[in-house]
Amino acid sequence: MPKNRLRLGINVDHVATVRNARGGALPDPVRAAHLAIAAGADGITAHLREDRRHIRDADMERLARELSKPLNFEMAATEEMIVLAEKLKPHAACLVPEKREERTTEGGLDVVGQAAPLAPAIARLKAAGCRVSLFIEPDEAPIAMAAELGAPVVELHTGTWCHAVADGHSAKAEAEFQRLAKGAAFAASLGLEVHAGHGLDYDTARKLAAVPDFVEFNIGHFLIGEAIFVGLEATIARMRQAMDEGRTAG
Ligand code: PXP
Repeated sequence: MPKNRLRLGINVDHVATVRNARGGALPDPVRAAHLAIAAGADGITAHLREDRRHIRDADMERLARELSKPLNFEMAATEEMIVLAEKLKPHAACLVPEKREERTTEGGLDVVGQAAPLAPAIARLKAAGCRVSLFIEPDEAPIAMAAELGAPVVELHTGTWCHAVADGHSAKAEAEFQRLAKGAAFAASLGLEVHAGHGLDYDTARKLAAVPDFVEFNIGHFLIGEAIFVGLEATIARMRQAMDEGRTAG
């Protein structure tokens, strides 16, 4: 096991997506969260979206109540979500941008443009005991602003890099990888804890794990999809191995 082992957070949103396709109670995202923890996950992430398209309020309440590992409540910085986080007091709150029409979170939070409304949101979440993270692009301006706003953690958006890798655009992929590595080093130099997430699979997670400034990866869609074929336990074990291999190699 590498000495500065990366934490693996599992996002269970898409178990709820499958459940909601039929409108009943199954499959249960909270059961998936318990199983993920038993399989070695270091924490669970769930995103309660404004439109409740996957995770619902009752899921979030059960996750906050039942889990034996930290819950990362992914949310937009709206009054409704802040009030809920203040009530549920999850271990962590990750602020993300949210647009109703998007299929998934597109792009990082505009922390520079939205600094004024974000400042009190961050302060309230911190007062509720949540470790606040901001999901941002891996660039200097948003990273510096995150530090200025007093967020202890940034989660760097890996989506652009992962798309470039998947599309076989190797020059763009290399440039995006360097952007992430540079962003992580800059964030760490400011004293921020650095996480990463969006679109990661075994190969991208292995490669990114070599960058020593990352402390935690949050991964959902790929893992839940793989679990259909080989089961959640085997999928998480393989992701754990990929991350450990990358970290050791780095
Ligand atoms: N981190 C954040 C902040 C996200 O918004 C998402 C997507 O919900 C993830 C991680 C996980 O991304 P994926 O499901 O593509 O692994």
